[in-house]
Amino acid sequence: MSTLIKNCLKKKNPIWLMRQAGRYLPEYQLIRRKQKNFINFCLNINAATKVTLQPINRFDLDAAIIFSDILIIPYGLGQQVEFKENIGPVLSNYNLDVFKKKTKYEFIEKIKNVYKAINKTRSKLSKRKSLIGFVGSPWTILVYVLNGKSPKKQITYKKILKNKEEIKELFQIIEKFVLIHAEEQIKAGADTIQLFDSWAGLINSRDLKEFCFNPTKRIIKKLKQKYPKIPIICFPRGIGKKIKEFCKVVKPNVLSIDSKIGADFVLKNINKKIIIQGGMDPKFLLKGGKLMKQKALYYLNKFKNRSYIFNLGHGVIKETKPEAVQQLVNIVREFNERSFRKN
Ligand code: CP3
Repeated sequence: MSTLIKNCLKKKNPIWLMRQAGRYLPEYQLIRRKQKNFINFCLNINAATKVTLQPINRFDLDAAIIFSDILIIPYGLGQQVEFKENIGPVLSNYNLDVFKKKTKYEFIEKIKNVYKAINKTRSKLSKRKSLIGFVGSPWTILVYVLNGKSPKKQITYKKILKNKEEIKELFQIIEKFVLIHAEEQIKAGADTIQLFDSWAGLINSRDLKEFCFNPTKRIIKKLKQKYPKIPIICFPRGIGKKIKEFCKVVKPNVLSIDSKIGADFVLKNINKKIIIQGGMDPKFLLKGGKLMKQKALYYLNKFKNRSYIFNLGHGVIKETKPEAVQQLVNIVREFNERSFRKN
């Protein structure tokens, strides 16, 4: 079992943050400036390892998450992926024939440096720290593959309805490579896997089963067959109260919650066997101070009788001050010490 989960079962509230490695850190910016192309940056073994370790060195967080991107999958399948300042990711049109012909071997060969970076990071990371690998869930990858950039509302749906057969084929291919990518990360040394379904909130409720619950369930089942001890964290962002059904169908080891889901709803509706992660709105880190402390303690207190991993409801925002992150880590650690002494 990963140390992240072990600590959390001991009621220690481990802490790590989505996007903990990133632009809010001056030491990240320093390396980023030298890397013109973001995908090449992710595929630079030394740079990716360094950047993965930066937030661990600075804040002594309990887990590192490998520095990469969910869009490495479309890249591995042959799409061009660029990141433009103030726009975000921009993908070239996909080619279904290229996707269809892509072999597991070719895919792995193209992005093998992600696995090498995991291996290298593991060798440099303390045994007390978990190393999280991650993938985008098939739906969220599909959204980028179809849309070419971050989606706005229902645009993806229009494309899906127009071309149902092709989408079905596309979805199956994506799902296959999501699984391959997760497996290869485990083989390289990731001890935990997080599935990011960042755009699950775009799915009409009648389609949630087909595009979110069932594919996630299939992926977990296959990973568990081979790697029963690797915990899986699911982040179906924006599906609101549907997380109840999600958990019933998918049965994740850990449910990462966004900031819109009420903590009380989670406490009431999610089986206690499922560890809860996250929740706090990342915007409270922008100001730091008293309000942030109040919000952090709110989540810590709400989940004090459950296994809980402290994290945010989404990634750290780039304008966040590193000092605020340090303050947050201190709050969680002090809370743990206080509750620990009592027990
Ligand atoms: O620290 C970590 O969390 C690990 C690294 C990581 C990145 N992206 C690095 C990154 C992870 C886990 C991701 C996941 C990711 N990427 C998601 C799922 C999580 C979420 O945010 O919902 C999504 C949707 C993406 C796609 C993506 N990548 C977008 C939309 C953007 C642009 C938006 C932005 O924040 O600039 C990226 C770029 C990206 N991925 C950056 C980083 C550090 C910023 C790139 C830069 O330095 O210019």
